[in-house]
Amino acid sequence: VNHLLGIKYLTKEDIDLIFETADQFKEVINRPIKKVPSLRDITIANLFFENSTRTKLSFELAEKRLSADVINFSASQSSVKKGETLIDTVNNILSMKVDMVVMRHPNPGAGVFLSKHVNASIINAGDGAHEHPTQALLDSYSIREKLGSVKGKNVVIVGDILHSRVALSNIYALQLQGANVMVCGPKTLLPKYIKDLGVKVETNLKKALEWCDVANMLRVQNERMDISYFPSTREYTQQFGVNKELLDSLDKEIVIMHPGPINRGVEITSDVADSKQAIILNQVENGVAVRMAVIYLLASKIKQ
Ligand code: CP
Repeated sequence: VNHLLGIKYLTKEDIDLIFETADQFKEVINRPIKKVPSLRDITIANLFFENSTRTKLSFELAEKRLSADVINFSASQSSVKKGETLIDTVNNILSMKVDMVVMRHPNPGAGVFLSKHVNASIINAGDGAHEHPTQALLDSYSIREKLGSVKGKNVVIVGDILHSRVALSNIYALQLQGANVMVCGPKTLLPKYIKDLGVKVETNLKKALEWCDVANMLRVQNERMDISYFPSTREYTQQFGVNKELLDSLDKEIVIMHPGPINRGVEITSDVADSKQAIILNQVENGVAVRMAVIYLLASKIKQ
């Protein structure tokens, strides 16, 4: 397969190979000279139809660390605003001899759609509320780094599961690696199909935290929210926000994760987000090595 469209399409062996490759790149980017010449003959376009800080900059840095040529496209400043279609936009970019496309798009399935209509390797950098595969890979990589392995660990994903591409990709990735997965959130923010995914469901945060080794706190996605089924922010924070007092009431120290951007004081308080228990910035750091691995492995197939 010449694309990374979702974790759904990967095997456990694929993830193992990505992580072994990322281990090598993590070592490289901690050297004084952080670059390797591997992809001098590859050109990559980063197409962002939705806002991003971490994913956009992390992909760009990963590509530059691999010595690829990089072009960046932001839909809001492009001819998409004049009505140009997705396929026309991408085919015009590809005609400039581009080999690989990294795309974030608000529509679920946009990456799969594009992969069927254009001749390039596609990496999904987040498609609506569907998948965010490189986020899930860097999340699992960070758990593996912190706890030694993902297999057998109890991981709870907390919050706005309904609108979260991070949740779905994490569920697939964690299950492939043998973790036990729970979701915890208000019933209004759990999708109807959640039990079909083979995860435990809990609506009491304290019970969920007592069960888990790792809690991945999701951002409440106000921009995708239908206000009629959202508990008020104050109610949400009272019932599903993690704070130091709650963590101190547990009989063990759990690992706290967050994909970012954080709503400080809503799903997580600053004293937790900035504590030693939180590996939020380690996740961001690992994102570069994991994305280098994904790009490198896909590019090696282009070169064949
Ligand atoms: N985690 C994540 O996708 O963050 P950005 O939206 O800033 O890329």
